[in-house]
Amino acid sequence: MTDGLDSSTFLRRWDAYEERAGRLIKPAFRSAALQADAIQAQIYTAMTYSLEAGGKRLRPVLVFAAADALGLGADLQPDCDSLALALEMIHTYSLIHDDLPCMDNDDLRRGKPTNHKVFGEALAVLAGDGLLNSAAEGLLKLACRGLNQARAAGVIMQAAGPAGMIGGQVMDMQSEGRGGRLQAADPLTTEAAVDFLRRLQVLKTGALITAAVTAPAQLDQFSGPVRQDLSEYGRLLGLAFQIEDDMLDVTADPRTLGKSTGKDERDGKLTFVTALGLDGARQILEQTLADLSGICRRLDHQGLDMAFLTQIPAYLSRRRA
Ligand code: IPE
Ligand code: IPE
Ligand code: MG
Ligand code: MG
Ligand code: MG
Repeated sequence: MTDGLDSSTFLRRWDAYEERAGRLIKPAFRSAALQADAIQAQIYTAMTYSLEAGGKRLRPVLVFAAADALGLGADLQPDCDSLALALEMIHTYSLIHDDLPCMDNDDLRRGKPTNHKVFGEALAVLAGDGLLNSAAEGLLKLACRGLNQARAAGVIMQAAGPAGMIGGQVMDMQSEGRGGRLQAADPLTTEAAVDFLRRLQVLKTGALITAAVTAPAQLDQFSGPVRQDLSEYGRLLGLAFQIEDDMLDVTADPRTLGKSTGKDERDGKLTFVTALGLDGARQILEQTLADLSGICRRLDHQGLDMAFLTQIPAYLSRRRA
């Protein structure tokens, strides 16, 4: 059984993973931007603006943490770097597009004006496209290293697509106008809405989070149950994370959160909070966190070093940003 980590050891490890992500992100487009002419260079400026704006770097942190939990060797760490960078590029592109006027129409992201507010809508669309393309390019290079690497790259591209994050965003858009407190007297409607929401959240946010922990497991031989339980860990963590995001939309201070609040209500979005109220959302969150603990114990019994991954849900639950 893995020993628990005290909170300062956990935080030191989080910071080290986050710094590792920063070291990959910072030079990502430096040489390409230097080679581009002045007009073409604008796209790198727009892409870098959002990529370097900050953010928690949760997905890269999860890649590194899963790799360490699985005990991947030093020879596979550069592959993990490629997975982490591609995921952060894809996540950042999804945020740029999520903020566009045709989607959530937001002004503030990662504590700064949104990409389209600074560069205009056309360049913001292209900056998102550029990040997705660059992620694919990085993953194709990784795939050339071998079959396991190709499988890991495939996990990420599939999670980003219509069967994953994009599919969830479609459901989110379709939910617009369907939000609003459901009647407790109508359990059928509530059940259907909660079921729809679970599927939506698991795709919209859960797909990339799941890929962050399952892609590293493709880099070496692991049993089916280990892979399945890691996938379940990602699914539940993604669900908990998005329920918390929906709660923060109501409870957080935009200056601390780095993005505007009250948007879900404004847009009539169907979220656990707009559907069930804060208390109802909290109940589903608590159940999800309890299920996550069970999965962590199972992975621990299967020989993974779960000390860090086990504490991530509680750490994220305390977040205000
Ligand atoms: C925001 O993701 C969008 C959701 C999936 C809820 P994060 O909360 O991980 O955003 P950053 O990367 O820290 O900015
Ligand atoms: C966005 O969800 C999830 C993505 C796939 C980008 P939200 O629309 O709730 O994210 P925020 O609140 O704008 O960060
Ligand atoms: Mg959205
Ligand atoms: Mg949004
Ligand atoms: Mg949100």
